[in-house]
Amino acid sequence: MENRQLVIFFDKLQSGIRKKELIKLVISNQRDHTSDLKSLIISIVEIKKGVRLNFVYRYKTKDITKNFDPEEAMILIKKSLEDDFLNADLFSNNETLRLLITGHGKVKIRSNQTVLKPAADFTHDHKKERIITTQHNIYLRELGILNVNFEVRAEMNDKYLQINRYIELLEPFIRELQVKDGFHVADMGSGKGYLTFALYDFLTNISGKAPLMTGVETRKELVEFCNIIAEKASFTNLKFIRGDIREVVLEKPDILIALHACDTATDDAIFRGITAGASLIVCAPCCHKQIRKEFNVTNELKAITKHGILEERQAEIITDGIRALILEAHGYKTKVFEFISTDHTPKNLMIVGRKMPGKSAGTKKSLEGIRAIKEIFGIKKHYLEGLFVAQDK
Ligand SMILES: C[S@@+](CC[C@H](N)C(=O)[O-])C[C@H]1O[C@@H](n2cnc3c(N)ncnc32)[C@H](O)[C@@H]1O
Repeated sequence: MENRQLVIFFDKLQSGIRKKELIKLVISNQRDHTSDLKSLIISIVEIKKGVRLNFVYRYKTKDITKNFDPEEAMILIKKSLEDDFLNADLFSNNETLRLLITGHGKVKIRSNQTVLKPAADFTHDHKKERIITTQHNIYLRELGILNVNFEVRAEMNDKYLQINRYIELLEPFIRELQVKDGFHVADMGSGKGYLTFALYDFLTNISGKAPLMTGVETRKELVEFCNIIAEKASFTNLKFIRGDIREVVLEKPDILIALHACDTATDDAIFRGITAGASLIVCAPCCHKQIRKEFNVTNELKAITKHGILEERQAEIITDGIRALILEAHGYKTKVFEFISTDHTPKNLMIVGRKMPGKSAGTKKSLEGIRAIKEIFGIKKHYLEGLFVAQDK
């Protein structure tokens, strides 16, 4: 392909990549209309290993996404224009260029000063960049967080922020984990998979790890829905299975996640994580009905718990406080913190437990703490504690 117009076009493309001014390159207009590959959309992404070019291969029924280093990407772009396509539209911060190849091999370039606004998630202001970016993010689009132009839909902005916050919070815990390729992540009560997809994306495409991930969910329609999206996004090591947290047959998880799993489903998940010896257990509890029903306050605290809302909040604190103590009793170092502002969701508490090798010092103290708290509130049974008692019988 030695043609002056082509040389100019590829020079501009290379310069756009180098200066990070490229917004996107769209390669289209098939030479041979029998192919299933309809177009290619290429944009810049920055991952831990450096700048990459993200290729979205648009097929008739699915999109496949791959990242290439800039050198390899240039070879692939040239080849696709030689063999498969006749047009390339280059959108950069300061101009748009259209490359047209005729059937007879003539090449023209048209320039247009109409300039696209930089994509919302790839500006030079890296402070504003979110970890989970929107550019050609297939799973976020399929989940309805983005529109067809890969922009965050106004009504889904809170969800998008929540997903990013979740990843930001987990990032330091994941960084310090010593895991081998093929480590297993189980997401218990994965629901529509918003956070499951984001975590898989983060682990594989940003952290450069190689997990196997399973979303566990009782609702068949959600399992099917998520498996379809995983396939569309080419998330080959992410699977969703139908099952109950309590009994699902699962490979031993190294990381166990349970976000907003209803009431005692959080306890079932923690129990499975602890008994499997998971290195990291992360949960964001949901409703706290079990302990509230158990409350039987007969001491001075009655003056407070007589107010329904205060009793409810107290039940939340006690439920999650005891969960953290149980984790500690089993050798986990715990952190309890706010997940995201209550403006975004009232279910905003996160409990993280990191398994400390050989650590058992906290055990006695933690168990004494649990006993004392139960006594103050007249609690006979904490569901999670009961699971361990039943196991020991
Ligand atoms: C509130 S949704 C949260 C979904 C997701 N984790 C998130 O944070 O976006 C809770 C999900 O857990 C599922 N679930 C509840 N109990 C379960 C159980 N025992 N086993 C499997 N899934 C369960 C529900 O069907 C529901 O989809």
